[in-house]
Amino acid sequence: MARPLELCLMVLAVCYVGAVLADPDLLQDVCVADLSSGVKLNGFPCKEAFNATDFFSNAIASPGLTNNTLGSLVTAANVVKIPGLNTLGVSLSRIDYAPGGLNPPHTHPRATEVVFVLQGQLDVGFITTANVLVSKSIKQGEVFVFPRGLVHFQKNNGKVPAAVVAAFNSQLPGTQPIATALFAAMPTVPDDVLAKAFQVSTKEVERIKTRLAPKK
Ligand SMILES: *[C@@H]1O[C@H](CO)[C@@H](O)[C@H](O)[C@H]1NC(C)=O
Ligand SMILES: *[C@@H]1O[C@H](CO)[C@@H](O)[C@H](O)[C@H]1NC(C)=O
Repeated sequence: MARPLELCLMVLAVCYVGAVLADPDLLQDVCVADLSSGVKLNGFPCKEAFNATDFFSNAIASPGLTNNTLGSLVTAANVVKIPGLNTLGVSLSRIDYAPGGLNPPHTHPRATEVVFVLQGQLDVGFITTANVLVSKSIKQGEVFVFPRGLVHFQKNNGKVPAAVVAAFNSQLPGTQPIATALFAAMPTVPDDVLAKAFQVSTKEVERIKTRLAPKK
């Protein structure tokens, strides 16, 4: 358990008042160090004036549009939408699924996720680092947990739309979809790396890359 006050006293010379009340944990994907700067910061600096608007959002009030390739849409209510969440270590998303819709395998590097099913039913699962699939069908009113950092997914195999509210123990959990991280990264991950990793030909790698390329 990190103790910010004590840490601050220990490294007083580099502590910046107002910027040290952050989660003791990483809040961004990348923070390239400026080794000559005296300001140490994880998350966002704090603004001087605020009001109730900074603690409010209607971002997840209505269903998201699911007429896309995967048939699902994640709508976030995180620190980017709700500035008041900064340093508080929590956020929400809403996920909507068309019949047949998939929220494809992905990870949240900075948060455990708990979903609560608003409507419909979903087949969900996560995979442990021992490659064990932990899966279950869940329906309206039920809850399922995806432990921090583990690959997980949700699919609506029902005949009607489904939706969940997802809670995270991070103001900005980060999302890394496995398929697009590997096959749609820019610059691209070399074909020979993916061919060897997946034990397929580079032709097959190219085919997947073409399909997953961001739509122009
Ligand atoms: C809050 O402050 C912003 C500007 O900083 C202003 O646009 C908004 O109307 C204010 N809202 C309330 C509820 O006072
Ligand atoms: C999805 O539906 C909305 C409105 O119903 C429409 O504006 C949008 O173009 C559609 N998107 C796709 C990818 O079909």
